[in-house]
Amino acid sequence: MSDKLIIFDTTLRDGEQSPGASMTRDEKVRIARQLERLKVDVIEAGFAASSNGDFEAVQLVANTIKESIVCSLARANDRDIARAAEALKGAQRARIHTFIATSALHMEKKLRMTPDQVFEQAKQSVRFARNLVEDVEFSPEDGYRSDPDYLCRVLEAVIAEGATTINVPDTVGYAVPELYGNFIKSLRERIPNSDKAIWSVHCHNDLGMAVANSLAGVKIGGARQVECTINGLGERAGNCSLEEVVMAVKTRRDYFGLDLNIDARHILAASRMVSQTTGFVVQPNKAVVGANAFAHASGIHQDGVLKARDTYEIMRAEDVGWSANKIVLGKLSGRNAFKQRLQELGVQLDSEAEINAAFSRFKELADRKAEIFDEDILALVSDESVSQEKEQFAFVSLSQHSETGERPHAAVVFTSAGKEVKSESDGNGPVDASLKAIEAHVQSGAEMVLYSVNAISGSTESQGEVTVRLQNSGRVVNGTGSDPDIVVASAKAYLSALNKLQSKADRVAAQG
Ligand code: KIV
Ligand code: ZN
Repeated sequence: MSDKLIIFDTTLRDGEQSPGASMTRDEKVRIARQLERLKVDVIEAGFAASSNGDFEAVQLVANTIKESIVCSLARANDRDIARAAEALKGAQRARIHTFIATSALHMEKKLRMTPDQVFEQAKQSVRFARNLVEDVEFSPEDGYRSDPDYLCRVLEAVIAEGATTINVPDTVGYAVPELYGNFIKSLRERIPNSDKAIWSVHCHNDLGMAVANSLAGVKIGGARQVECTINGLGERAGNCSLEEVVMAVKTRRDYFGLDLNIDARHILAASRMVSQTTGFVVQPNKAVVGANAFAHASGIHQDGVLKARDTYEIMRAEDVGWSANKIVLGKLSGRNAFKQRLQELGVQLDSEAEINAAFSRFKELADRKAEIFDEDILALVSDESVSQEKEQFAFVSLSQHSETGERPHAAVVFTSAGKEVKSESDGNGPVDASLKAIEAHVQSGAEMVLYSVNAISGSTESQGEVTVRLQNSGRVVNGTGSDPDIVVASAKAYLSALNKLQSKADRVAAQG
């Protein structure tokens, strides 16, 4: 058994399945690059057969990434698998991840298939996939709630067909650590050809135990791959969090005795990028990447840390990418300094045109804000107007009037399919008036299900980062916008969400 733990990141597939977290092709490629910088072993880039948009995203990631294995999910049928193989053609190293549900509940109620039919389909799909690529992963969906005897029969058969990785999902987050660890252990012990595959864990966080369950699957069960997402992004309560698993294994090497490829110094930039792209804010007390993760407030702790860091700190903040929140650039900084800072932050923009767009936004910001922090730069590059994808709507300018005792009024100028429009409205407050002004022209009819504002660098001088979540005809999208003026940030976020609603590509949910 290898003593290396494989990190399989599924932020771009299972993470993206979280309602509202859908990402554009460009966003996926940018995050994939960051994951490669982090040196994750496998990047699950999407579910190629679910939509044309997802197919293109997997294809682009496959053509871009050089070091990590690029993977596409596929249901256990020939069409999905062929589509995944097609999207992965340009990959240096490609993996097809095929799955079918094996719990009695899922087979009977969802698939309406008999256990024998599922068994045959699983076998045949792995055989088909192995004819297309060398590296094939098989997942029995809802595996943890499946009958162990039946599961052993299916897994033995798919290994015999050539599955190289066997992943055992706790799809609904029902497991507890000891039981899940022993479940994996007993599967490995009972299946005669279990040593021909690498065993993998995939845990959801419904009971808040995804990380603990995954680590038990590794320690007790002998799994050597963990499937996880940045910030634990994922449907419902999310997936196992990459940063927590990685830092647990690194910090407690004495206990786990496992090596990782991961370069943890890129963790924070990855966390910020995913949060800013999806609008899923990281809670301040989140382990490793939360704003307070390394902040010592109590006098006793501060005193201890100043005398000897390890009195209260088990990891070094800088090892996961935290540097002091220093002013990095200002109004007089040039393009080269800006480019170099982007590199230091682990941000790679795709073309000179993208760098120019980001730099001109930086200059605009520096005119209004004297001190530009790392967080501002990260917000700025994740802003959609830097992206080269053509958007339907783009913010131009805004004016609003509000005075105690008077109803606020806003006039917003924005482009719609390249044509400038001006729209006005009253509202309960300046933000409400601005968003109503946009809606008065666009008439999307979308329902707003979330509005949140976050101060990027913690003071009133900082930029406001706004997330707007819209729902329309069963689709849920998030838009984000940042600006020192939170009314402007809100208008940008609203337009960004409308852009996402405009993109027609409907996805088929993996577990659907
Ligand atoms: O949670 C799950 O079961 C999945 C599978 C598709 C692997 O995400
Ligand atoms: Zn999952």
